[in-house]
Amino acid sequence: MGALARLFRYLRNYKTPVLISLVLTLLATGFNLVQPELIQRAVDFGISQGEVRSVVVASLALFATAVLAGGFHLASGILLVRAGQGMSFDIRNDLYRKIMSFSFENLDRWRTGELLVRTNSDVNTIRMFVRLGLLMMIQSIIMLVGSLVFMFLKNPELSRVMFILLPGTLVIFFVLASFLRPMIMKVRERLDALNNSIQENLAGAKVVRAFARQDHEKARFNERNTDFLKLSLKVGYAFALAFPFIFFLGQMAIVLPTWFGGVQVIEGLLNPQAAGLTLGELLAFQGYALRAMWPIIALGMTLQFLTMAIASATRIQDLLEDRPTIIEPERAVDVPRLKGAVRFDQVSFSYGEGEPAVDGIDLDVRPGEKIGILGRTGSGKTSLASLVPRFYDVTAGSVLLDGQDVRSLSIRTLRERVSLVLQETVLMSGTILENVSFAYRRDHRDQPLDEPTETMVDAAELACAREFIEEKEDGWHEHVGERGAGLSGGQRQRVAIARAILSDPDVLILDDVTSALDAQTERQIVTNLYTSLPEKTVIIISQKINTVRLADRIVILDEGRIVATGTHDELLESNPMYREIHETQSAEIRA
Ligand SMILES: Nc1ncnc2c1ncn2[C@@H]1O[C@H](COP(=O)(O)OP(=O)(O)O)[C@@H](O)[C@H]1O
Ligand SMILES: [Mg+2]
Repeated sequence: MGALARLFRYLRNYKTPVLISLVLTLLATGFNLVQPELIQRAVDFGISQGEVRSVVVASLALFATAVLAGGFHLASGILLVRAGQGMSFDIRNDLYRKIMSFSFENLDRWRTGELLVRTNSDVNTIRMFVRLGLLMMIQSIIMLVGSLVFMFLKNPELSRVMFILLPGTLVIFFVLASFLRPMIMKVRERLDALNNSIQENLAGAKVVRAFARQDHEKARFNERNTDFLKLSLKVGYAFALAFPFIFFLGQMAIVLPTWFGGVQVIEGLLNPQAAGLTLGELLAFQGYALRAMWPIIALGMTLQFLTMAIASATRIQDLLEDRPTIIEPERAVDVPRLKGAVRFDQVSFSYGEGEPAVDGIDLDVRPGEKIGILGRTGSGKTSLASLVPRFYDVTAGSVLLDGQDVRSLSIRTLRERVSLVLQETVLMSGTILENVSFAYRRDHRDQPLDEPTETMVDAAELACAREFIEEKEDGWHEHVGERGAGLSGGQRQRVAIARAILSDPDVLILDDVTSALDAQTERQIVTNLYTSLPEKTVIIISQKINTVRLADRIVILDEGRIVATGTHDELLESNPMYREIHETQSAEIRA
């Protein structure tokens, strides 16, 4: 409930339509509550007295109230559509901004499917609730209170039946709500799982086919789908059971007045001196009882909306309240340019509670130095590199850029002055030009970019990408599909390297991004980076000696620790492990 209430702050921007809608609803309900009074007049002054004129006047008045109430309900509904859509628009934007603010660690914790369900389906549930459920609830409550007041004024004695019926219904209502909410929450979680299945299978569609795993994946999906079905059915049945029950109680509000009121009318007829009920009064009372019964049923129906909205609101709120784990310090230092000294000072890092992925690293990289980091998969290379631009924060020790702890620098400085090309190259759908100029367009947002600039062509040249780009049918304007589809793995890697070079960082880190290239192209790129960017610090990470052999210094990483440092020749000389790797890899190349 709290989560839903907190989400309602989003209605703040739509105060006027919501308030007008509320007033209109009040008026409409008011007109509706006058109707039993008019019926009473038609009966007591018209029908009972044989006065056609009174019947006609009362009927015309009834007609007028019906038209007015209908019109006001219509207008208030339309206003709430606006508020509901506006509110969900704002929530979606905020959720997206939140996801954009997430660090790698946050993203490790959320799964894509969950994020998708929350930004789409959960927001829609809230919108539907604002538009239909909320209006129904407000209408019901006004109608309930209004008809109770009129009933009491008409006949306090008869009204007492409502004192038994109402609290009873409300208790059932709340018991049901608290019983159903955890179930609905679970349904949403199953929906997350289902979406994760779909999302992962689409992302890995080719892998699934390559390994002929469709049958297995179909079975797994069917399992999750069945899970979802079972639980949804349970919730559906619970509502189906609850509804007639509430409906029955509502109808008692008609049965009891008919009985007791009917007796009072007869008493009045037999004994005109007694304070009995007129026929018109009984009919009016029935009218109010009907109007008090309707909200109880409507509330029962909104129960489903409400519990679903609360469940969705809790999930949205969880996402909105998740704090990005990487935050800028209060007085973050902005540095326009770095010299490029990178220092790891007793750095250790582990993911969550796990084993350390990086363990007690001490390493001093001079400005402009070319460093190679060599190690098997899982030796901690990627983890170590991620600490420099603060994709993750160290668990112990510190990483320093030009002598300043990275945690004291602004995120902007870090992301602009350090460029880390990730192992899994990610391209966006769009043209090659758009992909290469990704960072450039961040800084030149207003300028149209029709043709590659000279620096872009140079960057592509350094990344050995120019030739293949220009050979494409549309050249720089060649369209790249989702996640870089349409380019070979090696081409994607080269576009990613060009993109990083173009962003003109002071520290450039390439994490195993030449793996899909032939030895010759790879050597060319590495040589380009080492010779054409003399003042930039370049760190090249690889599992292959060939990629790092030209570096000023090679650092060998194993199980998160540095086991040896030196140039290629020094290591060949002094390190048996290096020699062994070198021999195996040379043999592989010859073979
Ligand atoms: N996002 C992650 N969450 C949890 N553990 C991770 C994550 N990424 C890597 N690891 C673990 O950290 C260790 C080092 O991995 P990594 O730095 O990727 O090695 P490398 O890049 O040398 O292959 C491995 O044991 C790996 O399982
Ligand atoms: Mg790696």
